[in-house]
Amino acid sequence: MSRRLLVTGGAGFIGANFVHHWCQAYPDDRVVVLDALTYAGNRRNLAAVEERDNFRFVQGDICDRSIIDQILKTESIDTVAHFAAESHVDRSILGPGAFVQTNVVGTFTLLEAFRQHWQVNSQPADYRFLHVSTDEVYGSLGPKDPPFSETTPYAPNSPYSASKAGSDHLVRAYYHTYRLPTVITNCSNNYGPYQFPEKLIPLMCINTLIGKPLPVYGDGKNVRDWLYVGDHCRALDRVIHFGTQGETYNIGGNNEVENITLVQMLCQIIDELVPDLPVRPASDLITFVKDRLGHDRRYAINANKMKTQLGWTSEVTIEQGLRLTVEWYLTHRDWWQPLLSEEYQTYYRQVYQ
Ligand code: NAD
Ligand code: TYD
Repeated sequence: MSRRLLVTGGAGFIGANFVHHWCQAYPDDRVVVLDALTYAGNRRNLAAVEERDNFRFVQGDICDRSIIDQILKTESIDTVAHFAAESHVDRSILGPGAFVQTNVVGTFTLLEAFRQHWQVNSQPADYRFLHVSTDEVYGSLGPKDPPFSETTPYAPNSPYSASKAGSDHLVRAYYHTYRLPTVITNCSNNYGPYQFPEKLIPLMCINTLIGKPLPVYGDGKNVRDWLYVGDHCRALDRVIHFGTQGETYNIGGNNEVENITLVQMLCQIIDELVPDLPVRPASDLITFVKDRLGHDRRYAINANKMKTQLGWTSEVTIEQGLRLTVEWYLTHRDWWQPLLSEEYQTYYRQVYQ
């Protein structure tokens, strides 16, 4: 069956990678992106697909019911891939309101619109609402705890993860109450092309290239389970096509790394690839800074369900993925330089000074 997708947040990091993946894998499918183009959204992320007949971009807010109703109807959407969110923990500490609005109210608005659309069309069994969420809803692990599974209780610690948890609960409730054909994915930290400069890996790459300090929070021993974004997109593809309605799937790279080790790995790759760095070795720029408030110590995902039920495993190792990512930032200065705007500098000063 060819699908007609609405991708919310498709001009952001993972959404744009997903759109590229989907357009390449299923060129006959219709893809409509709805994105508000917040500071994190960038139309240029979609330049490679803009000219396709089967692609359409709509600028709009997922809290705006009328625009969603209009797209669902006029485009005969059968599949929603919901990425749109406020996604950065540090910004959620500075200003939680936008997180509740977009992540909770926006997801609710989208669910209501999709429920009506599904009901008007006699509840087709092949409709899907994919809700893309995070492992951060499960809270923080101790050093010896087993990784998060799909049955780990929710214990979000930041305004970001709390708002994502709220949206997950709504999606779950729409399946249990209305049998809306939903699936939820909870994924670990992603990295790769098109990630906005404020997140750890792009921030470290870019700061190294421009000779700015590399700010490592606290003792640098917080652990994240890193997944290359292309692996995430392949996983979401499996979930849309073969996932069971009402189920949750955890997606992770089986790649637990302490932040300080990760930054050192990045520095080594950059030293090797860039002969004319402002500061060499790049690791001389590493600076320990005040810890993030409520900083979760460790995240790790048990992705066995994805493997046994949907035949998915991650393919890109952390060494390969970091190298690909550094190479991308090296060859796409014209992409990231304009993003280091006045707004970004103001944000940067608020977090790091
Ligand atoms: P991002 O911040 O790069 O992109 C978010 C996109 O959503 C942007 O294009 C932005 O313009 C858009 N958006 C924000 N508010 C909107 C609104 N009200 N209406 C319409 N569009 C709006 O985020 P990302 O890293 O690509 O994350 C995408 C999704 O994946 C999020 O739901 C996030 O919670 C989840 N996720 C991210 C990671 C990660 O490591 N980045 C890991 C697991 C899950
Ligand atoms: P981040 O990319 O913000 O993802 P998340 O907080 O959602 O896991 O950060 C990844 C890790 O890197 C997290 O433990 C916080 C840490 N970090 C730093 O040490 N310095 C930084 O400047 C940033 C942005 C993050």
